[in-house]
Amino acid sequence: MALAHEKIEKNVGLLAIFAAIAVSLGGLAEIVPMMFQAEAIQPLPGVKPYPALELAGRDVYVREGCYNCHSQMVRTLRFETERYGHYSMAGESVYDRPFQWGSKRTGPDLARVGGRYSDDWHRVHLNNPRDVVPESNMPAFPWLAKNKVDGPTIQLHMQALQRLGDPYSDAEIKAAPAAVAGKTELDAVVAYLQGLGKHAPRGS
Ligand code: HEC
Repeated sequence: MALAHEKIEKNVGLLAIFAAIAVSLGGLAEIVPMMFQAEAIQPLPGVKPYPALELAGRDVYVREGCYNCHSQMVRTLRFETERYGHYSMAGESVYDRPFQWGSKRTGPDLARVGGRYSDDWHRVHLNNPRDVVPESNMPAFPWLAKNKVDGPTIQLHMQALQRLGDPYSDAEIKAAPAAVAGKTELDAVVAYLQGLGKHAPRGS
């Protein structure tokens, strides 16, 4: 027995193979139960698939790469919950495909930003952050106010999400183009931002 062990320790190829097997078993033991757990995660009370305008805003958020500077995940650490509010829960982001948790924070976390500022503040800020935060190094997004939201695209997006299991009703999908008619991408992003953290637990 001792001899067999010596063989493994002295032969780097064998050691690598056995180490790989040991690590894979450990990995499987951690990952496989998570797959079943993920299915079981329930949305928090009030959490619903994004309404058409917010969904359009979310698409713009992803397109513009806001996630490169902003996370959407409050960690379970005192200094985070003191600053942002209740730590993030899995049940808040069941309808986020793909999720926007992230870890890069050039700017602040946005998971709890809904309702923190007025719509007008966001409009001015997105158009040119320096107008409200003089020391900001966030880029300006002046084209958002000029681009219109495309109704049929949002409708197709909602249809795809419904097929993936998001509980959109057919009526909501039918009404989507009307819901975003005449709206700009800026309207959509502001609606999305104002909805962030709306159904988070209160307190910290
Ligand atoms: C290059 C990095 C960068 C990018 C990209 C970026 N931001 Fe920011 N953002 C910042 C920084 C830095 C701040 C803090 C200063 C300020 O308020 O402008 C900030 C602040 C914010 C705030 C205020 C948050 C608070 O709690 O005070 C919001 C809202 C915001 N950004 C939204 C966005 C959106 C939406 C996008 C994409 C369209 C975006 N940001 C893209 C860097 C960035």
